Amino acid sequence: MKSSYLKTHPWKIIEEGFDPTRVKSSESIFSLGNGSMGQRANFEETYTGDSFQGSYVGGVYYPDKTKVGWWKNGYPEFFAKVLNAPNWIGINLAINGIPLDLNQCKAVSSFRRVLDMQSGIYTRSFEAQLDSNTTIEVVAKRFLAMNEASLGVIQYQVKALHGSCNVDIESYVEGKITNQDSNWDDPFWNHLSATHTDGVMLLHSQTFKSEFDVATYAQTHLITPQGELVSDFEPVSQDWRVSQKQTQLLKEGEQCTVLKFGGYINGMNHPPETFETRAKKNVKEALNKGMEQLLAEQHSAWASIWESSDIEIKGDDQAQQAIRFNIFQLNQTYNGKDPKLNIGPKGFTGEKYGGSTYWDTEAYCLPFYMATKPQEVGRNLLKYRYNQLDKAIENAAKLGFTKGAALYPMVTMNGEECHNEWEITFEEIHRNGAIAFAIYNYERYTGDTTYIPEMGIEVLIGIARFWAQRVNYSDFQKAYVMLGVTGPNEYENNVNNNWYTNYIAQWCLTYAAEQQEKLAQTQPQRWNELIEKLDWKAEEADHWKTIADQMYFPKHPEQDLFLQQDGFLDKTLLPVSAIRTDERPINQHWSWDRILRSPYIKQADVLQGFYLFQSDFDRETLQRHFDFYEPLTVHESSLSPCIHSILATRLDKMQKAYELYLQTSRLDLDDYNKEVEEGLHITSMAGTWMSIVEGFGGLRVERNQLHIDPKLPDAWEAFSFKLNFRGTAVKVEVTKEKVAVFHTNPELIVYCNGNPINS
Ligand code: BGC
Repeated sequence: MKSSYLKTHPWKIIEEGFDPTRVKSSESIFSLGNGSMGQRANFEETYTGDSFQGSYVGGVYYPDKTKVGWWKNGYPEFFAKVLNAPNWIGINLAINGIPLDLNQCKAVSSFRRVLDMQSGIYTRSFEAQLDSNTTIEVVAKRFLAMNEASLGVIQYQVKALHGSCNVDIESYVEGKITNQDSNWDDPFWNHLSATHTDGVMLLHSQTFKSEFDVATYAQTHLITPQGELVSDFEPVSQDWRVSQKQTQLLKEGEQCTVLKFGGYINGMNHPPETFETRAKKNVKEALNKGMEQLLAEQHSAWASIWESSDIEIKGDDQAQQAIRFNIFQLNQTYNGKDPKLNIGPKGFTGEKYGGSTYWDTEAYCLPFYMATKPQEVGRNLLKYRYNQLDKAIENAAKLGFTKGAALYPMVTMNGEECHNEWEITFEEIHRNGAIAFAIYNYERYTGDTTYIPEMGIEVLIGIARFWAQRVNYSDFQKAYVMLGVTGPNEYENNVNNNWYTNYIAQWCLTYAAEQQEKLAQTQPQRWNELIEKLDWKAEEADHWKTIADQMYFPKHPEQDLFLQQDGFLDKTLLPVSAIRTDERPINQHWSWDRILRSPYIKQADVLQGFYLFQSDFDRETLQRHFDFYEPLTVHESSLSPCIHSILATRLDKMQKAYELYLQTSRLDLDDYNKEVEEGLHITSMAGTWMSIVEGFGGLRVERNQLHIDPKLPDAWEAFSFKLNFRGTAVKVEVTKEKVAVFHTNPELIVYCNGNPINS
């Protein structure tokens, strides 16, 4: 199933040899981002082969009108599209009049891409033979500055290896860019101006409808073989493309360097009237610093990220490379500095999944960011949802819910639901549960008890109100039921009483009631303000408790098992091993009808509940449910193997846990699902981190205490991970002989297998 052409290295991703069929996959894998903008690893120079051009600006989207066959009331009006932005990286070369295009060259050799995860620098090098007398060597380095949100840097060196070369350089910014993912092929960008002043190319564009302003800018310099810096390029502007041209003669053996500074300035943070000044400041500062200092700064920014988040695995280089790749990509996608931004399933590496925010953020990503970043970062992720509470109440109102009931969207950019698919995505109301659980999880991990009174309580109440209206009392069952939902397992749509959804709804109702009571008792003044704001009725919390007490859960009539949903036992319960291997993944081979009738589970569903509510179930209960559901699970969501790996570790099924770990961590590097060319699975990368730290490390926080229960996979000699626990940097090292915990806080006690250990 897996196929990798990448070399194994603890800190680097390396591709060797040029293969046009791999270009799109490598464009995903070698993607760059700095939390504010990002881009696929497209070539700077022209490439006429198969490629997927992609550059993205955080938070900028287009509300593409929803495309459905038959419109029904309550459908989301638009599907937010992450926008492919104008191109600032382009550097075209013509060598003795022949355009450099790896798809057309006589020969390409020594092709190599290296992504150095320690420094965040991507290098591509190759030799290209253009005709029988001319061969050049190119070494292109690129990075997006981690300490300057709007700056990207390219150093593009060209050497005449054979024959002398007249090198025509055309460096440009280009506005004519389209999205692959578009419902109606609407134009997404309205270009307002294209200028060239003081050597800076600047394209001011605005998105249609959503009216986001973005400046795409760049400046080019040339360093001649004699080491002279040339900055006066000939400007050309045409058709929303601004370019700078220059020519350099290279004798055989000589080399010149094109330096390009550029990127995007996002109108969300910088008003358009400041675009030009900002662009000029960026390029001037970059030039003054020079390449050496810029590279050193990038290196040190990444060094401090690794200082607080690295995971070391000894004795298994594949696993080591994989976990660092996951941590690296998560940091490229989101840095927590801007509460307007969130973590898209594909980050800045592709267009699939359109909107930026899914339940993935709360259910999968939050633990990683809480444990490896300062507390504000986790809080910002929660605040993002708090800021969208009004929209969640509007979303619920559109469906007929009243009195402040909040339904958060399954997919969103601005708080509105924005997806095409009704039965699958829209009915996955379980996302409300993950958003409430994240509030609990944040307080549990960080010990920050101010978030709930300040903001979280309003979210919890809105969500509890939704569940209280979404259930109905069944006279037949003598219990509250929840009809017409889709659980996390998207291979079942519109089912009754999805166990996970009922369970998390029950938990939300109880937790919201507890928090409301606590606030009323401990901070009566704050609660009094809220009574009015929320139009609170004293009997609400009692009603929630009644529903929670009388929630219905589907159960096996003869065995001690919760059923995924009503009617699950009517299915032909053959294990996944009964499916022919050439029919996997089933979502690429079977009709939707067949999938829906089958017992096959896309991702953890009942087991997602066992993961989140670990302490509610004893080991035997977990074992029974794991043994029943895992053999029916096809793991066709990237979010699946990580949860199963964690649970398998809890059950001491270490070989299974390890296999699932490799599957989650090398999902993209080994292209398990044959789709890496569409982009990377960013949110599942946080799940990968969980499978080491929460799985093999056994990390959990109970009653304000940090607990670990480490288990070392056989394939590893040792592993270690780092955490920020309530302001203390903690390192846990696990070897075959012992577990060691390092920190310098005399107050902190870490419990290992239940026993306090000294650091
Ligand atoms: C999964 C969802 C997830 C989405 C985005 C889908 O394939 O089934 O649970 O939210 O991908 O990652």
